[in-house]
Amino acid sequence: MKKVVILGSTGSIGKSALEVIRKFPDKYSVLGLAAKSSIHVLEEQIKEFKPKYVAVYEKRAFDEIRDKMKGVEILFGEKGICQIAKLEEADVILSAIVGAAGLLPTFEAVKAGKTIGLANKESLVMAGELIKKEMKNTGAKIIPVDSEHSAVFQCINGCNKPYIKKIWLTASGGPFKGFKKEQIKNVTPEEALNHPKWKMGRRITVDSATLMNKGFEVIEAHYLFNIPIENIGVLIHPQSIVHCLVEFIDGTYLAQMSNPDMKAPIALALSLPERLPSIVKPIDWTLTSQLEFELPNTDVFPCLKLAYEAVHIGGTMPTVLNAADEVSVEAFLSGKLKFNEIYEIIKKVMDSHVAFQINTIEDVLEADSWARKMARKEIGE
Ligand SMILES: NC(=O)c1ccc[n+]([C@@H]2O[C@H](COP(=O)([O-])OP(=O)(O)OC[C@H]3O[C@@H](n4cnc5c(N)ncnc54)[C@H](OP(=O)(O)O)[C@@H]3O)[C@@H](O)[C@H]2O)c1
Repeated sequence: MKKVVILGSTGSIGKSALEVIRKFPDKYSVLGLAAKSSIHVLEEQIKEFKPKYVAVYEKRAFDEIRDKMKGVEILFGEKGICQIAKLEEADVILSAIVGAAGLLPTFEAVKAGKTIGLANKESLVMAGELIKKEMKNTGAKIIPVDSEHSAVFQCINGCNKPYIKKIWLTASGGPFKGFKKEQIKNVTPEEALNHPKWKMGRRITVDSATLMNKGFEVIEAHYLFNIPIENIGVLIHPQSIVHCLVEFIDGTYLAQMSNPDMKAPIALALSLPERLPSIVKPIDWTLTSQLEFELPNTDVFPCLKLAYEAVHIGGTMPTVLNAADEVSVEAFLSGKLKFNEIYEIIKKVMDSHVAFQINTIEDVLEADSWARKMARKEIGE
């Protein structure tokens, strides 16, 4: 029986993880759950999965749930979340909080040498080198949950690694695939949130529409697999069936395929080295006659280029990229920015940042906080 802690249990990834756990009660138990403020969902989850520990970020939500739920240890705030991220009894920590809020709990899990199912790509974008260094010290393991990275992880297993020439991450292209520069200016938050293939949280859905999410994934792959950023490419693949292509020096490729369903990489992160039966619907090849691939149009979706630029500059620049994006996406969703201005704000913030080397987690937090302030100033908040 594996004991699982889910950070971000009330979100899209968290709920999918609980769906997997629900199907295999003899294999998994829930040791801990953490969320920000969605108490109704959390309450239902506590009743059903009976975790020993729960951590809630917001004070009002914490007070309410503590009063209602007796017999469960309810912890408060970021400190409480960090506590359950490093529980000694935990076999797997699923890091599925959205955004920079996932960094410290993930880092705590790394420091404690845990096995981490990583959905929170932002922690690697913000602090990739630092996390890798700490993993070496503590023996912590990261199993990727992002579908493309889970796919690469499976393809490069064993002897393949030294012979990799390039990794190709696929992207559906989002709701604005094929749009011209002029068309994209006036798209609404509702349109941006209407992803054609994946049902996800709001931030990652907007990031998928700008292709910034793919940029983050390129950075994530760079750190996860120790591959130079220029050897990581992106292909638009609207069917979302092939999740990655790994190109080898002999000119051959390995691909990993499944119907688009996050339960596949989540289940693998929980079950490795085993595989669980019947997690996703097999592909119906009578309905799938075409698999298309094309290079992304970075004139229309320039955010992708910023991710490469941030890694080339190095130091705190990827941290700044993430923070400026997080603030800009929020501003777009609340009607303060146009879609194309998300890129413009991030670019301005990056241009005014003098990157410095990251030696400690405090360096990361300092750059993150600077970039947020700068982005808000540019937005006029
Ligand atoms: N969804 C996908 O298909 C997908 C695929 C690949 C990778 N990912 C990555 O997985 C992560 C989660 O994405 P998602 O789509 O599941 O997001 P989501 O649906 O927005 O859920 C976010 C979760 O994080 C919690 N949270 C937010 N701020 C928090 C804080 N300060 N402290 C504690 N908990 C906090 C939320 O709690 P409340 O509900 O209480 O606000 C919720 O449980 C992101 O890093 C994303 O990039 C997602």
